[in-house]
Amino acid sequence: MREQQNLDKTKAQTVPVLPNAQTVTEVVHYTDQLFSFKVTRPVSLRFRSGEFVMIGLMGDNGKPLLRAYSIASPNWDEELEFYSIKVPDGPLTSKLQNIKVGDEVIIRPKPVGTLVLDALLPGKRMYFLATGTGLAPFASLIRDPELYEQYDEVILCHTCREVAELKYGADLVQSIKDDELMSEFVGDKLTYYPTTTREDSPHMGRITDLLKDGTLAIDLGLPPFDPKIDRVMICGSMGLNTDIKEIIEAAGLDEGSNSQPAEFVVEKAFVG
Ligand code: A2P
Repeated sequence: MREQQNLDKTKAQTVPVLPNAQTVTEVVHYTDQLFSFKVTRPVSLRFRSGEFVMIGLMGDNGKPLLRAYSIASPNWDEELEFYSIKVPDGPLTSKLQNIKVGDEVIIRPKPVGTLVLDALLPGKRMYFLATGTGLAPFASLIRDPELYEQYDEVILCHTCREVAELKYGADLVQSIKDDELMSEFVGDKLTYYPTTTREDSPHMGRITDLLKDGTLAIDLGLPPFDPKIDRVMICGSMGLNTDIKEIIEAAGLDEGSNSQPAEFVVEKAFVG
């Protein structure tokens, strides 16, 4: 019996422990291509809302398989939230989409990124322009009290192909309104403008087209972009980022960075 106990102890010690492992606390599937999940937060992790970290799983070869993911939760939250696409043959997301509560995910606690308030000069009106999972950094920022201390108005535009793909963002905006604490610091400063391109919904079209033809300005009663007061953060596919950048630059706004804050910042939405 004693020998058996000793054997078990030796066995337990040889089980590999994942470096930087955190435990999954919630998984929500929105469509067959989109899901969100929460994990416990590493004690040492401090981040600015809008930043991303490397996250992943242990690969079959025993090496960590990591990808960049924007943190979708605000920096005051006890847990970390992520919003992800499911790519059927994607090395990471094909596995990540199957995670369950209690599983472990690797989180490298080294946050970086340009979609941060520090990369912009002071302004009055903030535009967040996202497509698909590019919403994630803004899901963090729209829950950060600092955003509302710095800006009078925040406009969150999210474009997806179909209505079901908007649900994560729509639910999030509603949850802010329903939350006593958050609705207090958000007040009436947050405007949500969801659009679809391949299914009927109240607002239809690519955000690039809606900016160019003035539809967004008419729908929300907004003046043209003004480099003195308007600030823009962009997060989507390469095509979107390039196309919007052109529109914003034509309006006289310059691209900023952590080291040189200016009027707008761009980041690619990450795909696993
Ligand atoms: P569209 O349906 O017209 O391609 P995807 O699922 O391909 O990542 O796209 C997400 C959303 O972003 C879709 O609604 C898509 O519109 C839109 N989109 C893709 N590329 C661009 C672009 N270059 N400019 C504006 N919107 C874009």
